[in-house]
Amino acid sequence: MGKIPFGPTYSEMLNPSLIAPEIRKNALAAKKNDELDPLNLFNITWKDENDKVRKVVLPKELTGTKANIVVLLGKDFPSGSHKVGPAYATLIEGCVDGNILPGKHTILGPSTGNFGIGVAYICKLMGYKAVVIMPDNMSKERYDRIRQYGAELDLTPGTESDVILTLQRTYELKKDPKNRPLAQFELMPNYRFHRHVTGNSAIEAVKGIGNGRIACFTSAPGSAGTMAAGDAIKKAFPEAKVAALEPYECATLTTGGRGQHRIEGIGDKMCTLIHNILNTDFVVLIRDEDTVQGLKVIQDGADVLEELGVPRDQAVALRGLFGVSGICNILGAIKMAKFLRLGPEDNVVTIATDGFDRYPSVLEDMEKRYLEVEPFVLKRWARDVFFKADDDQIFDFRKMENKERLFQQKEHDWLPFGYSQEYLDSMRSPEFWEEEYALVKDYDQEIKEKR
Ligand SMILES: Cc1ncc(COP(=O)(O)O)c(C=O)c1O
Repeated sequence: MGKIPFGPTYSEMLNPSLIAPEIRKNALAAKKNDELDPLNLFNITWKDENDKVRKVVLPKELTGTKANIVVLLGKDFPSGSHKVGPAYATLIEGCVDGNILPGKHTILGPSTGNFGIGVAYICKLMGYKAVVIMPDNMSKERYDRIRQYGAELDLTPGTESDVILTLQRTYELKKDPKNRPLAQFELMPNYRFHRHVTGNSAIEAVKGIGNGRIACFTSAPGSAGTMAAGDAIKKAFPEAKVAALEPYECATLTTGGRGQHRIEGIGDKMCTLIHNILNTDFVVLIRDEDTVQGLKVIQDGADVLEELGVPRDQAVALRGLFGVSGICNILGAIKMAKFLRLGPEDNVVTIATDGFDRYPSVLEDMEKRYLEVEPFVLKRWARDVFFKADDDQIFDFRKMENKERLFQQKEHDWLPFGYSQEYLDSMRSPEFWEEEYALVKDYDQEIKEKR
């Protein structure tokens, strides 16, 4: 059996300045020179080499709100998205617990893409064999990356909203004792990573912007891991509201609705096990076509954005920063800022999980569908999609009957996978989430001792 190649603790992912200076320096060099150097484990963080959170504040001429929309940028995480964080956290906790042994276990990564890419990447760095289980109709860029990192693909039929089939396949493969799933939808390391690392990074990101507080956090759940950042934000700023966004075409949280949509990574037709329903205040519906049109405006619309008053350097600097779900999160942030009547001192924080590099095919497909996308069309989209985004399709989930709907949805989704009613009921209590979060300290201690 091989040695476990330990990487950072949760605290070091939040504050890479805590990493031994020599290791940090070599890790930053590895980032530039060799993506596959295992030292890149120490680059799993929202912070840049100067320990600043990677973020952008959107121009108000684009958003049409006076509030500051602050977007944390995930594209510079190793492997190209922040999903590598939950993949690493789940694998390292399994190693610490003695459940995942190098040379003995094969890692399963059920995913619609980015988590699978993260799992493939982490397994390459840490020397595990990986099988990524994902739908067969996702963007081509995703399969290429997974193969490039040497993982096997096990494809199930469908698209984003057929992720349940990947869970069923994982459930079957898990019966073989050599297989160990990194089950992002159900395991708490995903929650711990985002509550500790993403949540506290968001809190740092708004220092010096507006009143330095967070009025609202928006995130479109896939696994709902990122939503856990909202739990940290609410601890720091009790007035903060947390909004979950989902595709209008697949409104599972809002109404139990189900349908195909094109926002890759989110809207998976379920309430995931790790979703802390207690802290979700609003659910907001976003039309998938708006996200694709919005992406086109950001990628190719610098001229029209300039005409609309966005300073050219700012318009150009936005290029490449977002994927489709990032635009969805931004639209949710703009809608919530308008709904909450926020002003220039207020901050809304959201997340761009990944960057444009994995979506050129989405825009190519769109260009085929529209035949001509002239500048006047881009201008109309820029106005309609961003500037005129309104406070429609926002639902209040602070109401008990709505929360109850989500608890029922969770039961419907997870009792069939062998979770007990008692366990699901325990998630109705805030203590459940506090106890899970408190384990960050224990895992940090163990990682330090064992490495
Ligand atoms: C592109 C993209 N956006 C958003 C998400 C949702 O993030 P989370 O799973 O933390 O809810 C994912 C998840 O895989 C994703 O790949």
